[in-house]
Amino acid sequence: MDFLLTVSRERPGTLSAQIQSQVRQAVRDGSLRAGTPVPSTRELAAQLGVSRKVAVDAYAQLAAEGFLALRQGAMPRIAAGPFPGAAGAVSRPADGRPVRYDFRPARPDVSSFPRAAWARCLRDAVTEISVADLGYGDPFGTDALRNGLAGHLGRVRGVVAERERIVVTNGYLQGLGLICRALAGRGARRIAFEDPSSGEEARIASGAGLEAVAVPVDGLGLRVDVLAARQVDAVVLTPAHQHPTGVVLAPERRTALITWLRTRGAIAVEDDYDAEFRYDRPAVGALQGLDQDHVVYAGTVSKVLAPALRLGWMVLPSALVDAVRTEKLLLDQGTARIEQLAFAHFLQRGDLDRHLRRMRLRYRRRRDTIIAALASSLPEATVRGIAAGLHVTVELPGTADEAAIAAAARERGISLATMADYWSEGGRPPALILGYSQMTEDRLWSGVRELAAVVRSR
Ligand SMILES: Cc1ncc(COP(=O)(O)O)c(C=O)c1O
Repeated sequence: MDFLLTVSRERPGTLSAQIQSQVRQAVRDGSLRAGTPVPSTRELAAQLGVSRKVAVDAYAQLAAEGFLALRQGAMPRIAAGPFPGAAGAVSRPADGRPVRYDFRPARPDVSSFPRAAWARCLRDAVTEISVADLGYGDPFGTDALRNGLAGHLGRVRGVVAERERIVVTNGYLQGLGLICRALAGRGARRIAFEDPSSGEEARIASGAGLEAVAVPVDGLGLRVDVLAARQVDAVVLTPAHQHPTGVVLAPERRTALITWLRTRGAIAVEDDYDAEFRYDRPAVGALQGLDQDHVVYAGTVSKVLAPALRLGWMVLPSALVDAVRTEKLLLDQGTARIEQLAFAHFLQRGDLDRHLRRMRLRYRRRRDTIIAALASSLPEATVRGIAAGLHVTVELPGTADEAAIAAAARERGISLATMADYWSEGGRPPALILGYSQMTEDRLWSGVRELAAVVRSR
């Protein structure tokens, strides 16, 4: 049985990865259909001139991702589908209508979740977890993960982190709630958010009893001069890649912010948003590296792996450690510990580094594609925020009605966000926010073409 694959040691990626990506692509573009038999690992290895182990590894990963059906004694086949990331795969958001083109931002390509590697880490965590660790333990988390994070964050983000100041959370948003309650408990009243930013964060702060105050963002990032005039006790910001504009906080603003924090005795919460996905130059180091007494560093696996894991972390100033420990204890006694150990293994084995390297290449190709597709189909738009992250912002000529465009797009199965969806007090040009992480290149081309037709028709 012939299988149209070619592999070469001269090409980037391992031989197994080359087999996997060609099979995924063939399934997604429909040239390999559900139920089609494929060669056994022995036949494939012989056909390609590779070791049997290469073929076995490739099939195991493809089976774990749902592309292949493997049964003892039966011929391997392409699975029944639906396939992750396949052109015809549809997701259904809350309004129940199917999404044909999913441009919603802030979502990673979860169809690329490294299932086999995670399954290995989870199995080892279950096998190895100590009897003591199966109890409640420290609400800040397991020593294994906190030690692992201390090393990882120092290495990749320049964060100054000792285990004692690290709390493992059920994601960034939980961490923000913990900080807001801890700050309110020690007398804070007002907290600033970037304008624009996600309204969810301001609601979390209000729920903790803090007044949320908007501070504008311009081409250099947060307006620190405006912040200084607002009499706030804390500020939440995304310095690596402002969400959603994509602006990086300029060096002079970083310095001004640190000076303001020290003078006022205020706290900054650094949401290290999208720092892992920077395509044209290395990421600037974390703000927290400049001041560990006034900056809370916050991270999450939601963009690098999958939101479903509900796993995040914060590195705290020493003065906040006790208050946050009390809040975390009262809230849930600590984050799920078996998953913490699995993630500790994932970090320690280099699985995260490997996954990020793979995804950075994939997202970069998709980013280049959406820029080219927009230039071709919507040349009158200004595309910003391209250097990093998983989305671009697309400014439309002055009279465009974002909400009407989003509604008309939705009618045609195209899901997207607009700048109006973000918490904002100021005037701004109408803009669409288009995530590109979840679609293959050919889908991005056709999706942008259809979206451009919607924009033109308004
Ligand atoms: C600004 C911002 N940062 C980070 C996140 C990730 O949050 P979590 O880690 O809780 O999934 C979100 C999710 O909506 C967000 O809006």
